[in-house]
Amino acid sequence: MLEAGSGTGQHVVHFAQPTPDIIWWPSDLQAAHLRSIAAWRAHAGLANIRPAMRIDLSDPAWCPAMHDGSGPQSLLAVFCANVIHIAPWRVAEGLFAGAARYLRGDGRLYLYGPFKRDGKHTALSNSIFDTSLRDRDPEWGVRDIADVEKLADGVGFALIEIVPMPANNLILVFERSTKGAASA
Ligand SMILES: C[S@@+](CC[C@H](N)C(=O)[O-])C[C@H]1O[C@@H](n2cnc3c(N)ncnc32)[C@H](O)[C@@H]1O
Repeated sequence: MLEAGSGTGQHVVHFAQPTPDIIWWPSDLQAAHLRSIAAWRAHAGLANIRPAMRIDLSDPAWCPAMHDGSGPQSLLAVFCANVIHIAPWRVAEGLFAGAARYLRGDGRLYLYGPFKRDGKHTALSNSIFDTSLRDRDPEWGVRDIADVEKLADGVGFALIEIVPMPANNLILVFERSTKGAASA
């Protein structure tokens, strides 16, 4: 299981603890976060967390470690929390392109964060957050589920589940669409 944009590394430790049968691969773009992940990993001492990989999701071929043998050879899932709204849209594009490239046939992509539905915010707090994001960088912003679905469709993935989470967040679950399989 690959975590994309792990940030501190706190979450991967939380997830890896109760799932000893799953190998977790944290990753991030920023050197400071990679150091933090390494510290959390050392602190946790869990055998099922691999060293953090530097992955820039805006590069569609974002997992060089999968090609040189130093990384995961087959991905069960990709988990990505709180990244695509705090990054330019090309990061979401790269995330899906890479997921299509690296996930095994029955693999899934889990996206956590705030999302708009049918162009509307689901809560005032998300709307305020969206404005603050766009003030910081006009390329950032809370994404609309329909836009993410369109992106997924373009790489042969379909949204199969929306799980409500606390504080007006959602988890969007994607897998390869049967439509894609039929036409492949
Ligand atoms: C708000 S933090 C979220 C961290 C963590 N997933 C969480 O939920 O707390 C956003 C993360 O996305 C990472 N990020 C931003 N752009 C990225 C990119 N192009 N490729 C990979 N990670 C990126 C940042 O370095 C940062 O760690």
